[in-house]
Amino acid sequence: MSVTRSVCLGCGSYLPDRVLTNLELSSMVETSDEWIVERTGIRERRIAAEGETTSDLATRAAERALAHAGVGAEEVDLIILATATPDYTFPASATKVQANLGAHQAVAFDQHAVCAGFVFALATADTFLRGGNARTALVIGAETFSRILDWEDRGTCVLFGDGAGAVVLRAEQGEGTAQDRGILATDLNTDGRLIDLLYVDGGPSSTQTTGYLRMRGQEVFKKAVTSLAETARTSMKKAGVSSDDIAWIVPHQANIRIIEGTARKLGVAPERVVTTVARHGNTSAASVPLALSEAVAAGSIKRGDLLLMEAIGGGMSWGSALLRW
Ligand code: UT7
Repeated sequence: MSVTRSVCLGCGSYLPDRVLTNLELSSMVETSDEWIVERTGIRERRIAAEGETTSDLATRAAERALAHAGVGAEEVDLIILATATPDYTFPASATKVQANLGAHQAVAFDQHAVCAGFVFALATADTFLRGGNARTALVIGAETFSRILDWEDRGTCVLFGDGAGAVVLRAEQGEGTAQDRGILATDLNTDGRLIDLLYVDGGPSSTQTTGYLRMRGQEVFKKAVTSLAETARTSMKKAGVSSDDIAWIVPHQANIRIIEGTARKLGVAPERVVTTVARHGNTSAASVPLALSEAVAAGSIKRGDLLLMEAIGGGMSWGSALLRW
């Protein structure tokens, strides 16, 4: 049976130039390279330059994704930017990206599911494409979390970084089997009772300030390992595949222990997990497309490979997507 699939034609990423190492951080707060590496796997992260905004990062990643896909900006009819750190309260940063790219006929909006944002945006774009409401979509994850960190809180400021990643999706016809290229299944979840575990303590409607990120790390950690494995299993069930079919897990890059713990629960060998957390830290919505782009550029991910993407973040919101490259 012929079905419409959202096929990924290309991807791209962008990282700001400035590298912030664990050693530098240890001169800012009471921490050490040893503690950060042992507890998180992070060695360094990137920090956006003064005046460099989320839409700037997103635009660079999108340009690279379009070039990789061989698609012109004028062909894009949908842009979804996943971000929790927009340039302005409004309009959506996606509107700036649309203008920067010259993709004037594309509808453009932001989607906000924090670290799970890219997976949510991917699922949303997939719905547009399969429903015939768009043909070519740019899905971007971009963040400047350095702007919402409390640089005196060692429990959070060592964890996050800035960056962007993007993919180009196109509606194409598939056979309706798990062998099709494109998105085979997605699964999204939210539990708003867990707001207090991870949030930003400001906003236009509450404090009229931007606020700073607050997290109860251990509780987030526990929730992450169980929920990520669960959502992965749900997506696999929907697509009719097993963990043996997965060529690569492309996980949210929050903590190497969460990444490895989830892979272990799913019975996927560590060699089949893309990890960039050491160099990027947690870039929230940017982390999955950044990791994806690096693995594609390195030649690790090959056409036909089945990818499992998964992420969890504030809300809490979490989800997964299965995509055959
Ligand atoms: O994107 C999704 C959202 N985020 C996550 O997925 C993060 C989830 N959580 C985590 O990754 C981990 O919980 C952390 C990396 C945040 C913390 O690791 P942990 O092993 O859970 O440590 P902990 O919070 O239990 O803290 C252990 C100790 C504490 O000291 P005491 O009370 O035992 O004396 C902390 O005060 O480590 C201390 N500590 C630090 N020490 C040195 C906390 N942060 C630091 C630090 N450097 N940066």
